[in-house]
Amino acid sequence: MEQALTSDQDIVLEVTDLVKHFPIKRGFLQRQVGSVKAVDGVTFRVPGSKTLGLVGESGCGKTTTGRCILRAIEPTAGEVIFHHDELGPLDVVSADPETLKRVRTNVQMIFQDPYGSLNPRMTLLEIVGEPLTVNRGVRGHELEDRVAELLRVVGLHPEYMRRFPHAFSGGQRQRIGIARALALNPQLVVCDEPVSALDVSIQAQTLNLLQDLQEQYGLAYLFVAHDLSVVEHVADAVAVMYVGRLVETAETEELYLNPRHPYTEALLSSVPRPDPTAIKKRIMLEGEVPSPANPPPGCHFHPRCRYATDECRHEVPILREIAPEHFVACHRADVLHLAGVG
Ligand SMILES: Nc1ncnc2c1ncn2[C@@H]1O[C@H](COP(=O)(O)OP(=O)(O)OP(=O)(O)O)[C@@H](O)[C@H]1O
Ligand code: SF4
Ligand SMILES: [Mg+2]
Repeated sequence: MEQALTSDQDIVLEVTDLVKHFPIKRGFLQRQVGSVKAVDGVTFRVPGSKTLGLVGESGCGKTTTGRCILRAIEPTAGEVIFHHDELGPLDVVSADPETLKRVRTNVQMIFQDPYGSLNPRMTLLEIVGEPLTVNRGVRGHELEDRVAELLRVVGLHPEYMRRFPHAFSGGQRQRIGIARALALNPQLVVCDEPVSALDVSIQAQTLNLLQDLQEQYGLAYLFVAHDLSVVEHVADAVAVMYVGRLVETAETEELYLNPRHPYTEALLSSVPRPDPTAIKKRIMLEGEVPSPANPPPGCHFHPRCRYATDECRHEVPILREIAPEHFVACHRADVLHLAGVG
């Protein structure tokens, strides 16, 4: 497959043809009767100190992709190369436990649910300090000083460090999760829908914080979201995912102005615009997102695509470069004139 998002910039993460199939087992003997093709051949790169948005509807495989990158779950196939700032390129999929530990200190994850992702029985000092104690043996006053600094960096008072997470609001809890993720000075943070569970007013503050931290510490983000409105102002490039596959990737402005995949066009049609005079017709996608246990043949999007032809029902479209740095998986990308948003 063509390499999506190639660039001369320093690359921090390269994911090539990543596959994760979960077996479906039935009956007393637990025989495998099928598989959930959660991630089915995904290729992308994340440049250093930049943000790649990974966008798609619920169940398309975004979290599974993130978890495979950290090897929180074992990928079925494919390659994940992490470019460690001291050790150079590391093959995550075949990494031994020692190498994996080095990867995991430099790749962190923040989660959607700021309530479920923090241990309620640990104080902020323990939550934020744990990675430092476990990985670097930091304890005592040195630990308190470092945690105080991390809390300050994310906009929380260091005096709170003896409190438990239940004393904090959703937005503050997300800041605690961010402080913990930053403790080991990572190169890459996988942000799995970090603002989806927050009030709209708090979402903007959290996004601003993440952007400030990126600038300050040169962080790269893989930023997962389920719609295109959240990533518009934070992502340098966007990868759109549908039922386990990437359907389009491009730099953010190019993707929003010139979408080349009908699914991207539909997602863009529901991005709110500040200009009330802008003519906007929302494309209502009919039907449900297909199950990755039983995806439709050919182009997975064909049952919901208003441009589908017979070819789409039988032939799988390959992700190809249609313009510089712009990749699309659609048979009709050369002939369609799709509506973007300015
Ligand atoms: N451990 C598992 N066993 C079986 N199926 C799984 C497992 N984890 C995820 N899946 C399935 O894989 C598919 C992709 O799930 P995933 O959580 O990656 O989607 P997502 O894009 O993150 O969705 P959401 O936006 O809802 O978070 C879904 O159909 C899900 O049910
Ligand atoms: S390949 Fe066909 S069905 Fe799939 S998005 Fe393109 S036009 Fe629509
Ligand atoms: Mg998810």
